[in-house]
Order: sequence, then structure tokens, then C-alpha cells
Amino acid sequence: MQARVALVTGGTGGIGTSIVKRLAGMGHRVATNFRDEGRGREWQARMKDAGVDVAIARGDVSSPEQAESLVRDIEEQLGPVDILVNNAGITRDSTFHKMTPQQWNDVICTNLNSCFNVTRPVIEGMRARKWGRIVQISSINGQKGQYGQANYAAAKAGMHGFTISLAQENARFGITVNTVSPGYIGTDMVMAVPEEIREKIVAQIPTGRLGTPDEIAYAVSFFVPDEAGWITGANLSANGGQYMGW
Ligand code: CAA
Ligand code: NAP
Repeated sequence: MQARVALVTGGTGGIGTSIVKRLAGMGHRVATNFRDEGRGREWQARMKDAGVDVAIARGDVSSPEQAESLVRDIEEQLGPVDILVNNAGITRDSTFHKMTPQQWNDVICTNLNSCFNVTRPVIEGMRARKWGRIVQISSINGQKGQYGQANYAAAKAGMHGFTISLAQENARFGITVNTVSPGYIGTDMVMAVPEEIREKIVAQIPTGRLGTPDEIAYAVSFFVPDEAGWITGANLSANGGQYMGW
């Protein structure tokens, strides 16, 4: 297997950290962004202690300018990006009749516009080199909707349209574009849901538990090897059976 350069946005978060470790474990050179330098460097040092070298660079993915400078910085450190995982994301849950323009815009810009912002600066290089892997981290709630998440569900559903269009445009350049749709995973994002509501959600999961970040990292890794070169425009649900729609 050829060692590639992988950029995982939001790599310092719960799911992102597992994806970074998994891709590094596959022999790839891995990078991520930070927004707060102190926290970014601290996370990088913890990863190094765990035996994983990760390149980091400043970048808020909701900004086209910062996303571009993030990509250029990583390219200077590691070389051209071959594998991109659009993982950075946030929630700003509210029932729609109470939702503010800020809550709407923050989620659309961070979760959906970021896919444009980060993918745009890497796609031309992938096309020129005739190899690339792009994976979006969407959500079960982009497939089924969720009470209190009109903003988040719209952004996560939008990622599918992005995936299947890019997949068509770039297939003949050796680039695959796919989506992983996780169910509820035990990270800070889910732990921020009030406990009483969270318990009701867990009761709806056939496996009877939250998923783990490693289970999502495994799903992402499925799309990366050369052998996965004919799988493009796919959506892989990893949700403990909570939603089985196509
Ligand atoms: N179905 C039906 N009714 C529901 C409901 C549901 N799922 N959830 C709330 N309601 C009802 C309440 O029972 C209440 O009804 P009454 O007025 O009759 O008492 C009413 O809605 C409350 O509405 P409010 O506008 O007052 O809402 P709130 O301020 O109490 O909070 C909420 C609403 C923020 C959406 C809160 O319910 C919540 O946090 N829900 C969880 C949302 C969620 O799943 N977020 C996922 C975060 S993790 C993630 O996003 C990762 C991923 O991809 C899976
Ligand atoms: P998390 O632990 O909160 O991590 C989120 C990561 O995204 C952090 O590294 C965060 O960095 C980064 N980030 C947020 N906004 C950013 C921005 N504007 N620019 C750059 N980086 C930004 O969340 P998670 O649970 O791992 O979620 C990761 C992804 O999986 C998200 O897209 C989420 O929607 C999706 N997902 C999660 C679940 C779940 O159950 N947890 C389920 C389905 C899908 P900072 O430290 O700088 O904030």
C-alpha cells in the first residue's frame, strides 16, 4: 500500500481523533486543523505520546480563505493532499420556530459550506494526479430528520447532494467521493444533549448503546484503499440499526 497524505478536518474532536489514528495506523501521513493554537498543540503532543505523528495547521473551515490557507500549510508540511475527510461539524439545536439566523448560518457554514471550502483547494491536485479519496461525515439526522435540528439536518442532507455530484464529475480521474452517516456516537456533541432526552434516543437504537468513534473511523477507512476504487457516490450508514432507510 502506498503511503498517502490525509487531511481530516476537525481531527481534534471525538470522531476526528479516531479517524486520524486509524488512517495513521494504515500507514498514511495525517494532518488536521486547529482553531485555538494552545489546544491544538496540546492535542498534537498527546497524539505523539500515543505514537501518532500528526501535522496541524490553523484553519476555521467555515471560512473559504482560512480553509485554503489551511490546505496550503498542510501541503507545505506534508505534500499534496490525497485523502480528505470532511469531518468538522457543530450543532446549534433549537426547534425551528425559535431558531435564530445565527444558529442557522453557523451550522450551514460549518457543516456544509466547509465541504466546498476545503474540497475546492484540493480537488484540482487530485484530478491532476489521477487519484483521490474524499469522504464526508454526514449524519443519521440528515437521512431521517430530527426534532430540533432543521439547520443540522439540512446541512447533513446537503452533504449527500455534494457527494453524489462530485462523485460523477471526478470518477474518471481516479477520485472517489463517498459519505459516512453515523448514528449517535458517545462524543462531546452527543453528551451535550440533555441526559433525559439522550436516554430516550438510546432506547431507540436496536444495539441498545451509543456508537464509538472507532466504529466510525472503521467505516471511513473502508473507502480509502485502492481496492475501494470502484465504490463512489455511496452512503455508508453506521448507526446501530437506528435508521435503515436507503
Ligand atoms: N418528538 C416529539 N416531540 C418532541 C421531541 C421529539 N423528538 N422533542 C421535544 N419534543 C417536544 C417536547 O415534548 C415539548 O412538548 P410540550 O411543549 O408539549 O411540552 C416541546 O417539544 C418542546 O419544544 P421547545 O421548542 O420548548 O424545545 P426545548 O427548548 O425544550 O428543546 C430541543 C428542544 C433543543 C430540540 C431538545 O429537545 C433537544 O435537545 N433534543 C435533542 C436533539 C438532538 O437529537 N440533537 C442531536 C445532537 S448530537 C448530533 O447531532 C450528532 C448526530 O449527528 C447524531
Ligand atoms: P466534536 O467532538 O465536537 O468535534 C468536532 C470537531 O470539529 C472539533 O475538532 C472542532 O474543533 C472541529 N470544528 C468545529 N467547528 C469548526 C470550524 N468552524 N473549523 C474547523 N474545525 C471546526 O464532534 P464529533 O462528535 O467528533 O463530530 C464530528 C463530525 O461527526 C461532525 O461533523 C458531526 O456532525 C458528525 N457526527 C457526529 C455524530 C455523533 O453522534 N457524535 C453523529 C453523526 C455525525 P474545535 O475544537 O476548534 O471546536
